[in-house]
Amino acid sequence: MERIDLLLTGIGSLVTPQGNRPRGGQSMKEVCETKDAVIAIKHGRIAWFGPVNEFQEQLAGSEIAVTMDVGGRLVTPGLVDPHTHLVHGGSREHELVLKRSGVPYLDILAQGGGILHTVKCTRASSEQELYEKARRSLDEMLLNGVTTVEAKSGYGLSLEAELKQLSVAKRLDAVHVVDVVSTFMGAHAVPEEFKGRSEAFVDYLVNVMLPKVAEEGLAEFCDVFCERGVFSIEESRRILVEAQRLGLRSKIHADEIVPLGGAELAGEIGAISAEHLLTATDTGLAALAASGVIPVLLPGTSFNLGLATHARARDMIDKYDLPVALSTDYNPGSCPTESIQLIMMLASLNLKMSPEEILTACTINAANALGRGHDIGSIEVGKRADLTIFDAPNIAYLPYHFGINHTYGVMKNGEMVVW
Ligand code: NIG
Ligand code: FE
Repeated sequence: MERIDLLLTGIGSLVTPQGNRPRGGQSMKEVCETKDAVIAIKHGRIAWFGPVNEFQEQLAGSEIAVTMDVGGRLVTPGLVDPHTHLVHGGSREHELVLKRSGVPYLDILAQGGGILHTVKCTRASSEQELYEKARRSLDEMLLNGVTTVEAKSGYGLSLEAELKQLSVAKRLDAVHVVDVVSTFMGAHAVPEEFKGRSEAFVDYLVNVMLPKVAEEGLAEFCDVFCERGVFSIEESRRILVEAQRLGLRSKIHADEIVPLGGAELAGEIGAISAEHLLTATDTGLAALAASGVIPVLLPGTSFNLGLATHARARDMIDKYDLPVALSTDYNPGSCPTESIQLIMMLASLNLKMSPEEILTACTINAANALGRGHDIGSIEVGKRADLTIFDAPNIAYLPYHFGINHTYGVMKNGEMVVW
């Protein structure tokens, strides 16, 4: 290697899952650790990594443009947050007392609050206002060590307002150092103007919104809130299959509150991921495994909604060999937090996942939930140099010492963007 753009030295512990593929079951535990490591970066990608002594032997003659010493800290792949509702107007702290007094999430929605309150605020916000608010959240995610996020629409629920949300995500992707991957989620709730006429709304979504979103290339994925009182299995199938026909891969909010059979549907239509899954049945989990669907678990949401049930991460990993991914579900209602590190702690506490499983879930499995496992999600020669440097001695320290931000530095495409 004649020239290295940047050499990261002094890595006390480099920890990464290996390969490009989703890692399920036992292989979620098999992370690779290199002590006293260095990473060589060229043209924004990883050119070499390994123990410092091997580097000295193999690459001694290389010309090194810049060297940065991370002072013995922990380096992992840049974290990937594969499920967020990043772009929206307003907030919902006024629902806190209602929620804490035990009013169920779906009742608040049925009364015109919840998602529908955020729809009002999002419609009333200008594109610039939405942009500024989402940019602040994205900054926060970056400071938490996240280098790629998914962003769902679904607080517009009209053609104009959905396009406004998706345009903001596109602009953020272009301008912000964090990569933003867009999902169209027009089927997030039935808006007031279609109240009691969900079939007419699904017609509008399929005939008007979806073709426009696809034509303008504003989303890579399509998602549906498949839940009792929101969108049925039949409606979800119709929307997702039509979106597939237009080139948008499927995601699905499945079996969160009621076991409707969303996981089974995800398997049937070959969704890339199924999210939440708190009440998914064994048949549902088997369907995910049979079709290679990635379960994206959101322990911040069950925590914040005060639910007694949690997604069955242990069964998913131990019995079904599923490649579990983790995400914040950042949104103004059920999970108002940008902190993926809080999610790591909750995955340990409530999902009983090990530190190795948590790292795998936040990196290579999350990258695969976005169809990007070939490019990000692990430290491999040729992959993007997206890295997070933690002021921590090992990965178990991250969920252990909770409530603070452990990020010391973040590298995106070979540039140190947080230091
Ligand atoms: O993933 N479940 C549906 N959608 C979001 C919540 C959206 C909201 O409450 O604003 C979720 O939890
Ligand atoms: Fe969500």
